[in-house]
Amino acid sequence: MQTILVTGGAGFIGSNFIHYLLENTEYNIINFDSLTYAGNIRNLDSVKEHPRYKFIKGDITSQKDLLKLSDEDFSLVVNFAAESHVDRSILAPNQFVMTNVVGTQNLLNLAVKKGISKFVQISTDEVYGSLGPDGYFTEKTPFDPTSPYSSSKAAADLIVMAYNKTFELPVNITRCSNNYGPYQFPEKLIPLMINNALSNKELPVYGDGKNVRDWIYVEDHCKGILLVMEKGENGQVYNLGGNSEKQNIEIVELLLEILNKPHSLIKYVTDRKAHDRRYAIDFTKINKDLGWNPETDFKTGMSKTVNWYLENRNWLDNIISGEYQQYYELMYKNR
Ligand code: NAD
Ligand code: TYD
Repeated sequence: MQTILVTGGAGFIGSNFIHYLLENTEYNIINFDSLTYAGNIRNLDSVKEHPRYKFIKGDITSQKDLLKLSDEDFSLVVNFAAESHVDRSILAPNQFVMTNVVGTQNLLNLAVKKGISKFVQISTDEVYGSLGPDGYFTEKTPFDPTSPYSSSKAAADLIVMAYNKTFELPVNITRCSNNYGPYQFPEKLIPLMINNALSNKELPVYGDGKNVRDWIYVEDHCKGILLVMEKGENGQVYNLGGNSEKQNIEIVELLLEILNKPHSLIKYVTDRKAHDRRYAIDFTKINKDLGWNPETDFKTGMSKTVNWYLENRNWLDNIISGEYQQYYELMYKNR
């Protein structure tokens, strides 16, 4: 069976992808991750001794670390490794260009050298910018990124396509909407609000709370990535979405209801800079070409997610006891 190099496999989507692969396929997996604040090797505790799984600690921006992969035998690459949080990209943009752009290019060079059979770049719908009240992002929507995060992802997408054209590297790019589910770091909307509500802390809603995101349960995204890796047409981009547009305030109110906490915990705070108003995905292409659909409805996904956080308070407590406190102070104090 083939071996997949999964980069960033200790993060939210990457660890869900690895669990999904080990449970549902026969692939061997090498997880290459530098374990930044967002990478949590505990996410993979239950599979660390799995015969088809191997972890290598390394940074995709470091040539020296990448040498650790020179003797490894893999024929597929799925690149999740990234700085992924918009708010952090506003506070400290440089690392976003380093990891998301330079790191991706380093991996592309490695992939060309190894002659791998498919490189899948995990991109985001945020490269398309912001929508008004109507319309959807298609794969043909022009790039119009607004944050250092989304612009670094857009830059990476362009380089990936250039390697496809220039060096004939077989590639696909996936652009998915907002994921939610187990193992998501509590800097992102849903786990942050769950964590705060559980501690009876204020829930900081940016601006008027009416920004819209299209939410997808992470396992549905993972299934789509696998399908693209196996069946995606060389050089094609695929949008993935959850068919589940919600205003932020709707999500926050729903979480308070599920957790049986008072709405008085909601606090409207100063808006994010250049805050994209609405994301919505047209995923007709992957649906028609590969038969993919998001299978988990929002209610079911949210209830699974909240239950996971309730059953894994220890996981959350470990994260919020470290660097997280400083980040939270910096981002939310006096906001
Ligand atoms: P995450 O922040 O939870 O995880 C990122 C992982 O990458 C971490 O394990 C981290 O340690 C690792 N990493 C970071 N810099 C690295 C480096 N230089 N070298 C090696 N490893 C490094 O992110 P996520 O939410 O799981 O997102 C994964 C990918 O999916 C990203 O590329 C992101 O742009 C994309 N994406 C995310 C979402 C979402 O809703 N979370 C939606 C669409 C696309
Ligand atoms: P986020 O989870 O950071 O994802 P993204 O910005 O990549 O879509 O944020 C989702 C939405 O929630 C976004 O409109 C910003 C908003 N938000 C808040 O209102 N308060 C918060 O504390 C956070 C983290 C996000």
